[in-house]
Amino acid sequence: MTRKIDIFDTTLRDGEQSPGASMNTEEKLVIARELLRLNVDVIEAGFPISSPGDFESVRRISELAGDDAVVCALTRAIEKDIVVAADALKFAKRPRIHTGIGVSESHLRDKLRISGDEAIERAVKAVKCARNYVDDVQFYAEDAGRSDYDFLVKMIQAVVDAGASVVNIPDTTGYSLPDEFGRRIKYLVDNVKGIENVTIAVHCHNDLGMATALALSGVKNGARQIECTINGLGERAGNTAMEEVVMGIKMHPEDLDAHTDINTREFIKASRLVSSITGMNVQANKAIVGANAFAHSSGIHQDGVLKKRDTYEIIDPAEVGAGQSQIVLTARSGHAALKHRLEELGYEFDSEKLDQLYEAFLNLADKKKEVYDEDLESLVNERDRESNALYSLESVQISCGFPLKPTATLTMRCMDGEVRTVCDWGTGPVDAVYKAVNQVIDIENDLSEYSVQSVTRGIDALGEVTVRVKAEDGRVYTGRGADGDIIVSSTKAYINALNRLLSDNIASA
Ligand code: KIV
Ligand code: ZN
Repeated sequence: MTRKIDIFDTTLRDGEQSPGASMNTEEKLVIARELLRLNVDVIEAGFPISSPGDFESVRRISELAGDDAVVCALTRAIEKDIVVAADALKFAKRPRIHTGIGVSESHLRDKLRISGDEAIERAVKAVKCARNYVDDVQFYAEDAGRSDYDFLVKMIQAVVDAGASVVNIPDTTGYSLPDEFGRRIKYLVDNVKGIENVTIAVHCHNDLGMATALALSGVKNGARQIECTINGLGERAGNTAMEEVVMGIKMHPEDLDAHTDINTREFIKASRLVSSITGMNVQANKAIVGANAFAHSSGIHQDGVLKKRDTYEIIDPAEVGAGQSQIVLTARSGHAALKHRLEELGYEFDSEKLDQLYEAFLNLADKKKEVYDEDLESLVNERDRESNALYSLESVQISCGFPLKPTATLTMRCMDGEVRTVCDWGTGPVDAVYKAVNQVIDIENDLSEYSVQSVTRGIDALGEVTVRVKAEDGRVYTGRGADGDIIVSSTKAYINALNRLLSDNIASA
């Protein structure tokens, strides 16, 4: 029997650190339900001291997960962080506190400005403090990938002796090469006394595009937990992608002496869900979950695959949930069918919310005839965006064409309840409408990205617009909007991004 490797998902913590990928608590709960369906071992639900929203997410996900997964909360090696994390985790059946400190020369000298001995002292104190609240304490040695081997051994020995049950060895800057990172893990295995009684975890960033290779090299050399995210979301170039590392193990169980308990058939669904909620689109050629991951275009390849699938395909697409038969709802589908399908997609609603969604669904089905899963996800997300909105769209009308000057007439409901109508013109219809929105929501911002994608196929498909705006302080906010009319989607997306920016400003005021 091969070793069981624990899958630690950090989409809701490190993944959320991707610029523009912030999520509210309801969105995090939807993703957490999907993580449970994937059967992950650990959900890192947030960094409770960082914001009331993170605290609430950890609390609610703790209730949701029950016995089905360990729920983990991040802290710095600071007592106050740990006390707040323990409080957020108090309803978790299987709570874990994840505390840690920098260990590389760069972090010690330039960031923390303390000696190695002082860092060890703080780390030990933090682990002991966390052990007062929970039995399961995970320690992270930040920037371990660039640390001195013997100092790392000294640090890990100290935290193991202090009671850590998991030691996380991150390549925080994605600097390492796979062989070297593997040697580092092996060095710990060979030199830390009692390491066989704790779990070694790897947490690798993708700055050189090697996060998956690094994690697998760690596993080959003794790691028993991989930290990863759906679609590889995360700081800068992201983290190890769960779908890649799990399929890597599934393809090479003997070489790696490893298996996981992940329900891989959920991968495509999980990827779509996370992309739709965060607004981070998945590149078409992304391994496992990209739109082209199982597409064969050259004649030679097509010929081979038609003769025998594995001539050019190492994974059966069904194993990751690709190409499964779609349930299509229509205007004739009843309330129960909608509820059932939404539950299968991970959404649970009370009857009032379900009634509202059913009405929106019927409107869509009237226009579109066939309603796919992607349409439903879009519909649900659209309702969520609207229900939490400070400003909302009442109507938008455009006149444009050749040789007209594109002009927008826009009516919006403001946060004080006032309804305002404004007009503006621009170089194109989207420019005109965005200028009109700026008249109503007067907040400095820079539109740094605008993209439009069709949600499903066909001329009547919903068009989903994603925008990113940069606030004056450099923070990036993503907005999404979906509608059959892309001017409406564009308007909704921009208003959604500005609503997020404003909510943050209000929360931090
Ligand atoms: O990259 C990193 O080092 C981290 C730690 C907090 C685990 O995200
Ligand atoms: Zn990280």
